[in-house]
Amino acid sequence: MVEPDGLRYTKLPLNNGSGAMPALGFGTLIPDLIETKNATKAALEAGFRQLDASERYRNEKEVGAALQEVFEAGKINRQDVFIATKLWNNNHRPERVRPAFEASLEKLRLDYVDLYLIHTPFAFQPGDEQDPRDATGNVIYDKEVTLLDTWRALEGLVGEGKCGAIGLSDISLEQVKEIVGAARIKPAVVHVESHPYLPQWELLDYCRKNGIVLQAFAALGHSSEPNLLDDPVITAIARRVNKTPAQVLLAWAIQRGTALLTTSKTPGRIKENFELSTLPEHAMREISEGIERRVRFNAVVETGVPGFIPRKA
Ligand SMILES: NC(=O)c1ccc[n+]([C@@H]2O[C@H](COP(=O)([O-])OP(=O)(O)OC[C@H]3O[C@@H](n4cnc5c(N)ncnc54)[C@H](OP(=O)(O)O)[C@@H]3O)[C@@H](O)[C@H]2O)c1
Repeated sequence: MVEPDGLRYTKLPLNNGSGAMPALGFGTLIPDLIETKNATKAALEAGFRQLDASERYRNEKEVGAALQEVFEAGKINRQDVFIATKLWNNNHRPERVRPAFEASLEKLRLDYVDLYLIHTPFAFQPGDEQDPRDATGNVIYDKEVTLLDTWRALEGLVGEGKCGAIGLSDISLEQVKEIVGAARIKPAVVHVESHPYLPQWELLDYCRKNGIVLQAFAALGHSSEPNLLDDPVITAIARRVNKTPAQVLLAWAIQRGTALLTTSKTPGRIKENFELSTLPEHAMREISEGIERRVRFNAVVETGVPGFIPRKA
């Protein structure tokens, strides 16, 4: 195996003077609560310094417990970890934003988060139910609030020392443009599914030109079929550069200028996903230009209903 290099420590500057974000990130969308805590600790101990959480994952408490144990052990400081969480669809009404934000901070046992994202642009019926449905099982949307209303409420959180930066998730280029055009504080981060089967070049180009970090989730394709880790272009490069297919995909994401999120419950894979080495230019080109297959694994962008979280019975 080739020795890892400095690629894994890449940081991306955020607009509005809100510091910089480590490109390589660990996501906490892990259904089992014990596994959430163990994996979060393992990720920090392996070297990950960017974490993604969400009130919708219903495990912020376990992420918070892991953070507290790691910070108390004294080897990693709070200010060395970039922590994000997200506002869920049932909390889009402006008066619900601050309470939801404060509740996330409390569960995460943090005084501040580095980034707060609107999880999706879809507003659901306001209330405590995260998955409101009518009698026929259809989602109940909230027509009384716009994304800009919610964005303005997020803008109100910035500058008080509890929220470093704000951003959007599961959003289209057109919607990002609308918010950028109307915002007092522009989004620092746009968080969307992205990998070689969904490279989002147009959105990435727009983000670059506007000083916005594009953060790619499902960077390994979420173990879904067709499996990116088995793609012949990726496996051939992996053999050539003496890295694993996962390491090739993560390096590609950083080298093309995105932040990324990957997730694993498996300690060996968590370590593997941190041990990255820079890919040669020709490998970057082979992935960017040679892979033509297009697959979106997560349909959350169409309805606001999470694609990777099973519906409760
Ligand atoms: N905003 C949104 O709507 C949204 C949607 C989805 C995800 N996200 C965020 O993005 C994060 C990452 O998404 P994701 O779960 O789709 O990430 P991913 O890294 O593409 O997929 C995770 C899957 O890959 C497997 N895996 C991880 N490392 C591996 C390796 N080295 N070799 C082989 N398999 C490996 C994991 O298996 P094991 O766990 O079994 O090891 C798991 O099944 C989430 O945790 C969440 O924070 C956001």
